Amino acid sequence: MSNIVDPKEGYNLYADNYQNDYRKLESFDKGEFLKLIPERAEVVVDLGIGDGRIAEHLRKISDKFIGIDISSKMLENCLKYHGNIDLVNADLDFSIPLKSESVDFISAYFLFVHLKDAKGFIEEAYRVLKENGIFLFNLIHQKKPPVLKAKKKKFKIKSYYHIPSHIEEYLDYFWFKWERIDIFEDKFWVSKIYKAVKV
Ligand SMILES: C[S@@+](CC[C@H](N)C(=O)[O-])C[C@H]1O[C@@H](n2cnc3c(N)ncnc32)[C@H](O)[C@@H]1O
Repeated sequence: MSNIVDPKEGYNLYADNYQNDYRKLESFDKGEFLKLIPERAEVVVDLGIGDGRIAEHLRKISDKFIGIDISSKMLENCLKYHGNIDLVNADLDFSIPLKSESVDFISAYFLFVHLKDAKGFIEEAYRVLKENGIFLFNLIHQKKPPVLKAKKKKFKIKSYYHIPSHIEEYLDYFWFKWERIDIFEDKFWVSKIYKAVKV
């Protein structure tokens, strides 16, 4: 039997095991997400930064890099692995704790799957971005969360399957100009990467 726990509790429990999943996470996108990171951006934010798996890629493009995550243990590991990064411990499901029109590039990698309010999150991303700011994120084809094991417990982390066409309607609704890359495995899509620009 495995309990379903919320992301805060789940990632606090799982944080020390998370690095073991890097290769699996990388295999989803076959390197395509990282290729869409711009060469330079003034203010960069990684929403759901976790333990900073892609922090080095983002840090090198900006002098102002901020990471936000609900799990204090993931953030603790992020500092341990990457040293000095500006980190904020916050729940992103209903708001992004940043000023309006203050960000040039947002990355939200493997975050949507844990967000209940996808439309509210897209609205918030639009609000905090500057004009021409970029919002890069992915959706994964996961309808049931995997069973994880850590600290002698078995559990699943609460997840949501967001239908891509709904996400695309929300992007249109907020006037994002967007493009999508589909990643397939055995004829089925496993990941969809969206690059959305606030026009
Ligand atoms: C699958 S991990 C992805 C981490 C990192 N972006 C990566 O690609 O390795 C999901 C992360 O999102 C965070 N998270 C989940 N729900 C959240 C929420 N409501 N607010 C803020 N962070 C959240 C988790 O704590 C976890 O660190």
